[in-house]
Amino acid sequence: MMMENAGFRIYISVFLFVTFFAFKIAALPLSEDNNKFGIILDAGSSSTKIRIYTWQDTIENVPNFNEIFYKKVKPGISSFHENADEISTYLRSILKVLEGELPPLLRPRTSLYFMATAGLRLLDEETTSSIMSAVKQVLMDPMQNPFKFEEENAHILAGEEEALFAWLTVNYLNDFFTKKGPASDSLGLIELGGGSAQIAFIPDDPIYAGKMPATIAGQEYGVYCHSYLSYGATLMSERIAELLIQENKHANVIINPCMLKGDSRNGTLGYKMVAMIGGGNASLCEDLLKYYLAPADDDMCSPKPCSIGQVYQPSVKNKQFFTFGLIYYLAKDFEILSEPGLLDLKQLQNTVRGYCEQSYEYATETLGMSEKYASRNCQDGLYIPLLFSALGLDIDNVIAAKDLKGSSIAWSLGGMLYEEERNRYQELASQLMEL
Ligand SMILES: *[C@@H]1O[C@H](CO)[C@@H](O)[C@H](O)[C@H]1NC(C)=O
Ligand SMILES: *[C@@H]1O[C@H](CO)[C@@H](O)[C@H](O)[C@H]1NC(C)=O
Repeated sequence: MMMENAGFRIYISVFLFVTFFAFKIAALPLSEDNNKFGIILDAGSSSTKIRIYTWQDTIENVPNFNEIFYKKVKPGISSFHENADEISTYLRSILKVLEGELPPLLRPRTSLYFMATAGLRLLDEETTSSIMSAVKQVLMDPMQNPFKFEEENAHILAGEEEALFAWLTVNYLNDFFTKKGPASDSLGLIELGGGSAQIAFIPDDPIYAGKMPATIAGQEYGVYCHSYLSYGATLMSERIAELLIQENKHANVIINPCMLKGDSRNGTLGYKMVAMIGGGNASLCEDLLKYYLAPADDDMCSPKPCSIGQVYQPSVKNKQFFTFGLIYYLAKDFEILSEPGLLDLKQLQNTVRGYCEQSYEYATETLGMSEKYASRNCQDGLYIPLLFSALGLDIDNVIAAKDLKGSSIAWSLGGMLYEEERNRYQELASQLMEL
């Protein structure tokens, strides 16, 4: 009787488990045992984005990723500074969310990656390393983290890695890897963030620096990647304000030509308050922007060619580029996107030059620009064509879009692809060693 009871209980719990498992899996594309799962925690400055991917394990094909879960957790991890207890509580709540999505059987074979971006890159080294060691302490502990994790799974992405991952995402979504066409079929990536601007592409010419190799489905790609730190739109706006303050040390009121007439803001120079008022002068604003975008003199540029300052960048000639995010939204605000998403930089430039001469009041009340971005749209709109031309991009080889083939664009998908391909390669290599 006792035995029967125990057997029954095991039967019931197996039944419940299978039902639960089947229910969870039902939402997934295929319920085969070779379905793999992976987790990316994208630790940004204002939030951590949790993403779970699933894909089929294949040997020589490109994995077919599906994002099955997404959640944004606020605030970002950098807001806890060095408080290890708060970091631990924060991470445990994220792990709880993940445990709610992945049944126990799947957890030990689901890799978890914690990748931090701009927010952590901007903090000082000491703070950053204490945050990262607090993160690793939680994630390395199997009592707290039931997912597959190795120490190097948690790291701060270099700007170039972020660029590579975004490039992988765009080309993955565009089916470049499955089509296995020539490198010239790949799309270049350009991205303007708040802090930095990223570029990634496979040039026609050999790459002398900044080459990031990625192996996808057995094919190796050499991608040139560069992150222009402090060339993001927000930092550019701050740098212009600082430059104007530096140039007018004794003034209490400074005219900023990149701000719309009628707009004003206060800033501080050391202990002194300065009022900054809008001058709405596109050509003076462009002169200020060009100051930051000028290439170095020929004798200071090695290897050649240089794009901005001494930064080496191979030629982008004839390449089709793709962009999303800030540039897309700006082009949309100014209604200059032609149907297939081709961004006409000349038209953007002309439209924005006219816009910069309008008053703040007209921009916000008649044109419907947000108060926060009315002046920024003037500066950013002047900046983008100049930045693109400094990088060698022509007026009509950039496509701007919100998404690609219906999928939102985030570097984390490219990060998952990169890590999965690396794992597969390592597994294959160790299997070969055993033979
Ligand atoms: C700047 O400071 C002055 C004087 O303190 C104040 O009157 C004004 O409203 C401030 N402007 C803004 C945009 O904050
Ligand atoms: C912009 O400033 C320049 C130099 O001061 C001036 O010649 C030009 O007329 C100004 N443009 C506008 C639209 O105010």
